[in-house]
This record gives sequence, C-alpha cells and structure tokens, in this order.
Amino acid sequence: MAVERTLSIIKPDAVEKKKAGAILALLEDAGFSILACKRMHLTRQQAEGFYAVHKARPFFGELVEFMMRSPVFVAVLEREDAVAQYRKVMGATDPAKADDGTIRKLYGGSVGENAVHGSDSLDNAKIEIAYFFPGNEVAPSAG
Ligand code: CMP
Repeated sequence: MAVERTLSIIKPDAVEKKKAGAILALLEDAGFSILACKRMHLTRQQAEGFYAVHKARPFFGELVEFMMRSPVFVAVLEREDAVAQYRKVMGATDPAKADDGTIRKLYGGSVGENAVHGSDSLDNAKIEIAYFFPGNEVAPSAG
C-alpha cells in the first residue's frame, strides 16, 4: 500500500465546539502524521474557490457561508492509503448515517455542519493540498 497525503479541514462547527485538538489527536491515534496544520478564517473567495466543483448545487451558498462563519484548521495528513483511510475515519457525509466512532458521528451535527472535510481522491488531494499549502510549505518527506 502506498504512502499518500490527503487534505483535512476541521470545519467551523467543530472549531467552535473546541474539538480541533480532539480531532487531531484522533487522527494521530489512527496512524496519520500531521505534516502541516494552520488555522485560517476563510474569505468568500477562498471558500468559493475551494468548493467550486459544487457551484451548481442548491446548497452551495449555504456551504460557503458556513465555511466563512468562523476559523477552520486545514491540515495535510500522511499515512499508507491516506485518502481512503481518512474517509473511513471521517465517516459518512451525513453524521446521522456515519458509523460509531467516526469523526462525523462524534462531532458532526448535520449534513451541512459535519465537522470535517476530506479529499475524495488522490488527484483531488494533490489539488486541495496545493490550494492551501502552495509552493514548498509542506516538507517533501515526513521525516
Ligand atoms: P465536504 O466533504 O466538505 O464536501 C462538500 C460539502 O457539502 C459536504 O462535505 C457537506 O458538508 C456539504 N453538503 C453536502 N450535501 C449537503 C446538503 N444537502 N446540504 C448542505 N450541505 C451539504
């Protein structure tokens, strides 16, 4: 299994509840290395640009407003099979449908306010990491 990187966003609802540290600890316990992490208050341009793929969806406006509401933590995670493993640890998009013990089950409130984001493919992980950590902000190796 290849070592991969993926992008995590701890969303405003979880940061407001002061669960960012608990979520990062859960990720480390699940075997992820946190290669980079920063707290940001997203601008409209940053939120709309990040979720541009969802622009035509009816919930786009609500999603952008939510992501701008208060600060988020964006983080680069690394481990074997990181994209799929992080999606497993996050749980289903709708916290009501997420498995017990997953981040969204533990900390998410609704499909709109679901505590965390994760890249859905390795290709998108590369794009999303570069969106928030341009240039050489993330070290080329974990060591
Ligand atoms: P995320 O993994 O960040 O990717 C897109 C986000 O859109 C998703 O998590 C949800 O938070 C949000 N989303 C998906 N479906 C809905 C919906 N029906 N209503 C509001 N937000 C949604």
